[in-house]
Formats: sequence, structure tokens, C-alpha cells
Amino acid sequence: MTTNTSEDLAFSDRMLSLGLARVAEQAALASASLVGRGDEKAADQAAVNAMREQLNLLDIKGVVVIGEGERDEAPMLYIGEEVGTGNGPGVDIALDPLEGTTLTAKDMPNALTVIAMGPRGSMLHAPDTYMDKLAIGPGYEEGVVSLDMSPRERVEALAKAKGCTPADITVCILERPRHEAMIAEVRETGAAIRLITDGDVAGVMHCAESEITGIDMYMGQGGAPEGVLAAAALKCMGGQIFCRLVFRNADEKARAAKAGITDLDRIYSRDDMVTQDVIFAATGVTGGTLLPAIKRTPGWVETTTLLMRSKSGSVRRMTYRTPLSAHDK
Ligand code: FBP
Repeated sequence: MTTNTSEDLAFSDRMLSLGLARVAEQAALASASLVGRGDEKAADQAAVNAMREQLNLLDIKGVVVIGEGERDEAPMLYIGEEVGTGNGPGVDIALDPLEGTTLTAKDMPNALTVIAMGPRGSMLHAPDTYMDKLAIGPGYEEGVVSLDMSPRERVEALAKAKGCTPADITVCILERPRHEAMIAEVRETGAAIRLITDGDVAGVMHCAESEITGIDMYMGQGGAPEGVLAAAALKCMGGQIFCRLVFRNADEKARAAKAGITDLDRIYSRDDMVTQDVIFAATGVTGGTLLPAIKRTPGWVETTTLLMRSKSGSVRRMTYRTPLSAHDK
């Protein structure tokens, strides 16, 4: 009789996805009592603890490739940490236990718990730097917009492809001083801008459901780890994302070298960042257009989780209701 090693076991995305939904769900439940309490750190820590605990129950031999940071700065879910029972397929995991810590602390829209999983080597090991990002939803010819275009050109090209005028396009941008010139140029085209204060994974995901969210395009600089998570989401939902790492100093370049990145100017497409089929789960912490907030009623708590598989293109929204006293069992 031969025994399979964990590396031999196939990545069974269909069954694992249900476990992944639970991981996202439990992270959200753990941060529920911290929504709107002004304590980003406590909310994040609660989500991190719960996500790690749940991941360690899954029958996987997992490695965190996008996580809470380098080992010396993140005691849990650090990059390279091994998670899971060790009895199962070898998988790579990208996660952000609480995407939008400030949104959670202030009870502002679109804070999510986010996790993606794929076979070993399926996701870019992005360093913890910034990234220039540009994303649109499904249904457009590949490359209809590009990072090398100016913000004006991007809006005009997308409007042409959509068969509308720039005034009918809505662009989502993080409200930051670094984006002032970009915002001014997009405004000159007549396009509308939805400014968000945080949470660009959700910002990008909004492009994939533009009929619901009203967002056609996402652009601007945000975290590189969030860029890979957003690419994993669009691989499941459809849509295009292009990213280029941004380095502000030698330390950030060293982080890229450590992650094995040699071409510092490379533009990554969605499929360059996520090279194989993945599964993706996100649970709403605060309410937004993609997912409702965690609902707390006396004695009960309810979450909604978006669970997706890129292999099938399936998108599920799952509602979970549990007695408050039992939610951590
Ligand atoms: P946190 O969840 O760590 O608070 O970060 C949220 C976020 O807004 C990301 O969505 C985004 O990519 C990044 O921070 C932007 O970074 P910065 O706040 O430095 O502009």
C-alpha cells in the first residue's frame, strides 16, 4: 500500500471552499463586538486570532504567502507561517484577517475579512510595499485600459468600450494626498469619482459587479498584498487588474528581492499575480454594496460571506446565523 504525501493530494477546491468560508466567517464574528469601538488594533487582533485558529482546523498543509507581515513583525499569520493540520494538499494562502481596520473601528462601509487559497506557487509573493493598481470588471477586451495610460486616457478608453460618455463612468479611488493629481484629471473628463477612505480590495471587487455597485473602474496606489488579494477575487468574479510595485526606498527594494522579485518595473496582470485556479472567501464586517454588515440582535449574530471559485466562476453569498453564546464553538 502506498501513502500519498500531502504534496501529492490534489487541491480539491470544491470541498475546501466551504472550510474557507468558515475561516472568513469566524474572523468576522470575532471582530463583531469591536465594530465602531474606535480600537483598530483590538479589532484586527481578534480577527487574526480567529482566522488562525480556524485555518489550523483545515486539512491542509498551508503556507501563508500574503499575510500580516514579516515574521519579526507579525507573531501570527506571518509570511511563511505553516497552517492547517498538515494532513492534506499543499496550498498557498493569501489573507487579510481584517481589510479595513479603521473602517471597522469607525463603523464605516466595506470592511471585510478576506482569504484566498490555491495550489502551491499559485499566487505572487508580493512584498509589503505599495502598488499602482488599475482594475475594471468583466466583459471588456483584454488591455482596453492600461497602467501606461494617463487617468484621462483610461476613462476615455473605458467609456468608448462601454459605449457611453466619460460622464457615465464612475471611478473608485482611495482618498489620499498622493492621488490629488489623479483625482483632478479624472474630474476633468466629466467622470464621477467614488472616494473611499480605506479598503481597496473591496474597491477593486466593486468593478466586477458594476450594475450593483455603480463602479466601473478602480485606480490608484494601495498595498501590494491587497493587490494580490484583489487579483484573486477578480480571477473568480471576472475582470481585469494591472499592478506595478512602487518602491519608496532601499528597504522596500530589499523586501522585493527577498520575495524573489527581480524586475522592479514589471506590470503584473491578474493572471500573472494569480497563476492557477483559486478559491476566495470574504465576509462583510461593516455593511457595503458588496456585502451586508454583521448583524447583531439580542442573543444572535448573523454574517454574510461571499464564496467564490475561479475554476467554475461560481459566486455564492452565504448567510450564517448563530446564537451569540455559541459563535466561537
Ligand atoms: P488596513 O486594513 O491595514 O487598515 O488597510 C487598509 C488599506 O486601506 C488597504 O485597503 C489599502 O491597500 C491600504 O490600506 C492603503 O494604504 P495607506 O493607508 O497607507 O494609503
